[in-house]
Amino acid sequence: MQTVAPVARQGRPHGVPDLARPGAAPHVALLQVDAVSLEYRTPERVVRATHRVSFDVHEADRFVLLGPSGCGKSTLLKAVGGFIAPVEGEIRLDGRAVTAPGPDRIVVFQEFDQLPPWKTVKQNVMFPLLASRTLGRKEAAERALHYLDKVGLAKFADVHPHQLSGGMKQRVAIARALAMQPRVLLMDEPFAALDALTRRKMQEELLALWDEVRFTLLFVTHSIEEALVVGNRIALLSPHPGRMRAEINSHDFTLESLGGTAFQATAQRIHHMLFEEEGTTA
Ligand SMILES: Nc1ncnc2c1ncn2[C@@H]1O[C@H](COP(=O)(O)OP(=O)(O)O)[C@@H](O)[C@H]1O
Ligand SMILES: [Mg+2]
Repeated sequence: MQTVAPVARQGRPHGVPDLARPGAAPHVALLQVDAVSLEYRTPERVVRATHRVSFDVHEADRFVLLGPSGCGKSTLLKAVGGFIAPVEGEIRLDGRAVTAPGPDRIVVFQEFDQLPPWKTVKQNVMFPLLASRTLGRKEAAERALHYLDKVGLAKFADVHPHQLSGGMKQRVAIARALAMQPRVLLMDEPFAALDALTRRKMQEELLALWDEVRFTLLFVTHSIEEALVVGNRIALLSPHPGRMRAEINSHDFTLESLGGTAFQATAQRIHHMLFEEEGTTA
């Protein structure tokens, strides 16, 4: 049964109580994006990428940011990563303000060239573990092989990235990110450059991996279908500058529901919500 309940965000208080102190936070969400505005400043002008965006990500959520190209999804992910500071609002992880990048938030990007080509697959997965002094060499090698096995690439540990297909490179990037055991795994359109069949397969594998490892995922896409398949919760962002349009509960949808009537109806509904005129209601 598919029940989809878009939740209007108007009027939601964004103030966070003192509970947000570390150690005193039993019901504070793992990741809080709280009325966050993000801007790019050049000498000529200021581009507002997002406007007062708020959402909470809970442990083991597969939370999707969905919106048209240019609505600020990547910028939001960079801000959660700690690479860009909000001009308004705050981002908190475990109740503490995010002010810089850290090993608790790892990003997987769309590009296939995110793996240094001179390192083998295993060395690529080991590298962040060693660079961040998370593990020594032996333990890093063991953990790398563990996660390479999880993405089905243990056999390819000693080859170089150029010997892999696009989908395999993305699997390595996912293994590398998971090996760090981040609090939140950030993925920015990780499958967008893959052909349709490989993309579908990667979505399936990601869900199987989540079933096994239960990591917390913040996933960016502009594909409504991908959002419904990958996510359990979806934040809809309006076109530039991105604002929260609605939040959709999508945990009932899986790859099996693709093409079904409930799935199609929800996809249609999201499409309308994303592209309706400002000021009208869904
Ligand atoms: N480095 C930058 N300098 C100035 N403007 C930028 C920069 N990066 C992105 N933008 C602008 O910010 C807005 C949001 O971009 P982005 O976060 O990449 O959107 P999305 O990932 O949703 O496609 C867009 O209007 C884009 O042109
Ligand atoms: Mg983007």
